Amino acid sequence: MVMKHRIGFIGTGEIAIIHANSIRIENPEWEIAGGYDVIDSACRIFCSIYGGRIYQSVEALLQDQTIDTVYICTRHDSHVTYSEEACKNGKNIFLEKPVALNYEDARKLLKCWKQRPVPFTVGYNMRVTPSILLLKEKLEEHNAKPEAFRLNMTGTPFMQGWAGDERYGGGVLVCQGSHMFDLIAHILKSPISEICADTQWLHQPKELEPNSAIVLVKLENGVCGTLLMHDRGNKSYHIEPGGGMINFTIYSEQGTYDVDAYGRLRYGTNDELVSIIPSGQNDIEYRWGYRNEASQFSKLLASQVTSICTLDEAVNAAAVVEAAKKSVREHRWVSVVYG
Ligand SMILES: NC(=O)c1ccc[n+]([C@@H]2O[C@H](COP(=O)([O-])OP(=O)(O)OC[C@H]3O[C@@H](n4cnc5c(N)ncnc54)[C@H](O)[C@@H]3O)[C@@H](O)[C@H]2O)c1
Repeated sequence: MVMKHRIGFIGTGEIAIIHANSIRIENPEWEIAGGYDVIDSACRIFCSIYGGRIYQSVEALLQDQTIDTVYICTRHDSHVTYSEEACKNGKNIFLEKPVALNYEDARKLLKCWKQRPVPFTVGYNMRVTPSILLLKEKLEEHNAKPEAFRLNMTGTPFMQGWAGDERYGGGVLVCQGSHMFDLIAHILKSPISEICADTQWLHQPKELEPNSAIVLVKLENGVCGTLLMHDRGNKSYHIEPGGGMINFTIYSEQGTYDVDAYGRLRYGTNDELVSIIPSGQNDIEYRWGYRNEASQFSKLLASQVTSICTLDEAVNAAAVVEAAKKSVREHRWVSVVYG
């Protein structure tokens, strides 16, 4: 049975528009009820495209009983407060990543959610891009047992704004690190156990958080790997829908698998070397997994079953970020402590 939902957007910037486009395609029976944004003009533009009304406060939106589901797409500093309020108002929640600026706040939200456990997902979209889904399928099909990996995330400059501010965004380990730690644990099917990290300011003002990190990672299942993240890429190579923003190589006896999370999968086994670009449209909503997120979120609301990121899993990613920060401060390997 098709479930109808009425959606309120909290934060109506860039990613909110991508989610609204994805909802229109994947869940056309859903209705966008409107939004709230601290910048009134952002909300006006959003509502002029997707319909619905401009709410004057987050409270007004959350108290609207006709809205059953919220997408929280604000800066990172408001994720915990808004999610807690949404839980208390019984809304279904899609929260953009990361859960929080730090692990303590992430755990606080988890505690609040456990008292009011509404359907909740966190937007780690890379889990469900078409090429990552194909990677998962091939790893299963070949019964591959990963031993090591190499992972890069390269954005275009974005941490010179709020994302690099410790009060609002948190810099590289929060913005990109949380994404990658979730992807590593998800694909390699094991919690991260130990981490050794360092950070750099690459063409980044020193009053902001670093925009680059090099990280060594060990997982509980014995897999080890390296991770490089920064925002010094360029649009054509890294950002276009088929591009190489995230490149993940997995080594196993059964084969080597190399995937651009938004583009091509290549793998080599003893029998063959294969290169595949999953079929489908070449827009960001599809290639970056947002359409799959929308359909998976719909499944979660209908059946409580999902392969997108749960709140517990996203809180685990925050624990790894915390360990990475400690490693940077103390210049040593740090064990990840999960609460
Ligand atoms: N999953 C992904 O690949 C991906 C990609 C980009 C951004 N994001 C995440 O999406 C979120 C938003 O990022 P964006 O790129 O859309 O940023 P953005 O700056 O384009 O939009 C954020 C919007 O939130 C509004 N806002 C900020 N604080 C607010 C508050 N307290 N209350 C109400 N509105 C508030 C801003 O005015 C702005 O319109 C972040 O969590 C970011 O990390 C995820």
